[in-house]
Amino acid sequence: MKITKAKVVKGKLRVPSDKSISHRSIIITALAEGTSIVKNFLKAGDTLTTIDVFRSLGIKIDEAEGLFFIHGKGLKGLTEPDDVLYMGNSGTTTRLTLGVLAGQPIFAVMTGDNSLRKRPMKRVLLPLKNMGANVDGRNKGDYLPIAIRGNSSLRGIEFFNEKASAQVKSALLLAGLNAKGKTIVIEPIMSRDHTERMLKAMGANIRTEFDEGGYRVYLDKTEKLNPVDINVPADPSSAAFFAAAAVIVPGSEILLEEVLINPTRDGFFRKLKEMGADIEYLNQREEAGEPVADISVKYTPHLKAVSVEKKEVPSMIDELPLLALIATQAEGETVIKGAEELRVKESDRIKAVVENLKRIGVEVEELPDGIIIKGKQKIKGGTIESYHDHRIAMGFSILGLISEEGIEIKDPECATISYPQFYEHLKQLVIFE
Ligand code: S3P
Repeated sequence: MKITKAKVVKGKLRVPSDKSISHRSIIITALAEGTSIVKNFLKAGDTLTTIDVFRSLGIKIDEAEGLFFIHGKGLKGLTEPDDVLYMGNSGTTTRLTLGVLAGQPIFAVMTGDNSLRKRPMKRVLLPLKNMGANVDGRNKGDYLPIAIRGNSSLRGIEFFNEKASAQVKSALLLAGLNAKGKTIVIEPIMSRDHTERMLKAMGANIRTEFDEGGYRVYLDKTEKLNPVDINVPADPSSAAFFAAAAVIVPGSEILLEEVLINPTRDGFFRKLKEMGADIEYLNQREEAGEPVADISVKYTPHLKAVSVEKKEVPSMIDELPLLALIATQAEGETVIKGAEELRVKESDRIKAVVENLKRIGVEVEELPDGIIIKGKQKIKGGTIESYHDHRIAMGFSILGLISEEGIEIKDPECATISYPQFYEHLKQLVIFE
């Protein structure tokens, strides 16, 4: 796939639905007593993995007329799978499902693809073990394959979420539903809160609060979860690619419709505004307990360099590679720090950004926990390695739109993990030179 220089990016777009909320709309409703209905579920590689996994765990999931019906079987209703659960490329499916299985009276084994089998799991296994879970995996419990035998006498713990991982927080809260006593998660920097919002809407015994120490979640053993209807908004992490395209391609103007703007997720858009980008939230509203807006984005000729600090990282974690690419067009030097978590995503995203930028003629400096990007650089072009990482393939495709000789993307199909229509949408919105 070669992406060449664009003349302009124009139009309206409703990008695919939010990946994080779509995962949770299956995993959490599977634990409800009764049928939940999900509208606008994201049909992409990762979230279809979640559906397969929960079907293997005995949950009936039907699709009709664009709606998904999840027939929940209660807090301990899952059945033992008769084969290894395949988690594909999905860290969210793996870590949240581990939390669910910790308190179910069944045995399960999980594995995943080449990338997922390299990603750290001890961050979930250790606190789950402290809650009484019987779980172990390869490399002293850090890597898949992992085996888990549920324990019906889990106990709540207090957990300090130092890495601000929403997947770890969610796993512990889901385990906590079946645990004796309180499960408390303390976050010095708040991570995405979709699990807490959904659990509240379903009647869980959960409370959240903020103080000087940060954000805290308190969850008590819950008798039952009620089914819910969920309308999943558009994914800000997918919308980010087209917002970036409009900001850097001269003369562009687009409207991104129905985008989730939860403050734990919209850090990228706020950072672009700080860079001086012409971005506006229109028609702000609430849908299914989440804030949503239509986002208007226009070409911005004079972007300013910015710095990204540790406390800002969680709200833009998946968009940081893209932010680094846009920073090549800003005036001044952009410094991203405190983002070491990027090294343990679907690929080492710091390395992927730095090596690929160098390949296409851009000067960049790698830090252990971030990247320094010099601004106002010409993008010559060349071939980039996606490392089978959807966000790397899509990010560099966007940069191809301002490249002199075009950017060839290796393994572009990996975009289907979160955004199967990405290249189709690119063709619809971009007029090429
Ligand atoms: C996610 C949390 C984040 C994020 C991932 C999705 C989630 O990961 O990077 O794409 O849905 O909870 P961490 O929890 O590892 O930070």
